[in-house]
Parts: sequence; C-alpha cells; structure tokens
Amino acid sequence: MYVCLCKNVKCHEIRQCVHDGADSLREVSQCLGVATQCGKCAKDAKQIVKEAKQER
Ligand code: FES
Repeated sequence: MYVCLCKNVKCHEIRQCVHDGADSLREVSQCLGVATQCGKCAKDAKQIVKEAKQER
C-alpha cells in the first residue's frame, strides 16, 4: 500500500528502512524521500515508523 503518493513510497519500504536502522521519520525521509513534498503523508508515515520500531 502506498503511504506517500508524491514519492511513491510504500508501507513495507518504510518498515524495511526502520528495520535497517532508521530511527525517526527524518531518517526515513532522508533515505526514501517520504514526506518531503506535500507532507500529507507525514502523520501516517510517522505512525508506521513508530510501529516498526516496536517490532525491532
Ligand atoms: Fe508524501 Fe506528498 S504524499 S509528500
């Protein structure tokens, strides 16, 4: 499922990025570009980062 339409970033890509060591939405944004355009996805992306961190 796409989280960020501006940058074509999917949910599983964000989770993978966190599992690979990203610690915050900012770090995930740096590697995937998520939430760097319109910003509408930031809230959902942040929630996914939070959940993925708990799974580590
Ligand atoms: Fe993610 Fe626009 S949907 S920046």
